[in-house]
Amino acid sequence: MNFADRYGPFAVITGASEGTGREFALQLAAAGIPSILIARREAPLQTLAAEILETTGVECSTASIDLAAPDAAAQVLAAAGGQEIGLFIANAGADPNGSKFLDLDLENWLQLVRRNVMTVFECSYHFAATMRTRRRGGLLLVNSGAAYGGASYLATYAATKAFMLAFTEGLWAELKPFNVDMLTLVMETTDTPEFRRLLAAKGLPVFPNLASPRDVAALGLANLANGPIVNWGKSDEEPGPPTSAKSRRERILAIDEMTKPIFGG
Ligand SMILES: NC(=O)c1ccc[n+]([C@@H]2O[C@H](COP(=O)([O-])OP(=O)(O)OC[C@H]3O[C@@H](n4cnc5c(N)ncnc54)[C@H](OP(=O)(O)O)[C@@H]3O)[C@@H](O)[C@H]2O)c1
Repeated sequence: MNFADRYGPFAVITGASEGTGREFALQLAAAGIPSILIARREAPLQTLAAEILETTGVECSTASIDLAAPDAAAQVLAAAGGQEIGLFIANAGADPNGSKFLDLDLENWLQLVRRNVMTVFECSYHFAATMRTRRRGGLLLVNSGAAYGGASYLATYAATKAFMLAFTEGLWAELKPFNVDMLTLVMETTDTPEFRRLLAAKGLPVFPNLASPRDVAALGLANLANGPIVNWGKSDEEPGPPTSAKSRRERILAIDEMTKPIFGG
């Protein structure tokens, strides 16, 4: 089966208007797969859809949805309509807060959990069900190195990404016999507009050696059938994070020292 037969005829991409989400859409269109492009701002989605149509002849549709809304998954499914979805990419997921847990109203964290956990979870349930029936397709959940352990200033974010990691691993094994691929793409610092906005808001310069969204998206698409995890910048064999209680404690304290100058306070 070629790529378009396996993951077409349509993809759904959340957070498609910029950064890695935009790159997924461009690379899928180049492979002949149109996407349903989702984000809150409609204008950049429409610009991207027009660009894709002009450069590849592939026709994407757009939907303005707040993925943190309690009914977001229902809205995503409605946007997909009756189309056959062969690939679901949950890309939107950065933490816009950069704050200690108790220094913000709880509602900010509830929105992060709804967007990163509940909406991804509900959409995965529905899209995976039809893929299992058809015995083909894929789900790609965009993750972060934060999934491997807690971090100060990122406590809620890291917890949502840890959920995604364990969820992917379990579903990967369950869906494998049905020829449905499940992958979580573990990113490190990447040159996305959202990351640049965060650095600018904190008065920090752009970090050196940021990954490019194009390369990161390409790594994810190339490894769809090589789940459950692909780690940016690491080979399959490279050891993961420490697991003893002592080494995890030391790791969190080291991260705390690193994150203080970024998030302040
Ligand atoms: N950039 C990094 O350094 C880095 C590192 C590790 C992991 N990651 C992961 O990579 C993914 C992409 O990150 P990113 O840096 O590009 O930032 P992001 O905020 O996750 O993604 C930006 C895209 O998501 C959309 N979006 C954000 N919140 C939304 C909401 N509530 N509802 C609908 N759409 C929403 C944005 O469009 P609208 O604003 O128009 O809604 C935009 O299209 C995330 O899952 C993140 O956790 C990023």
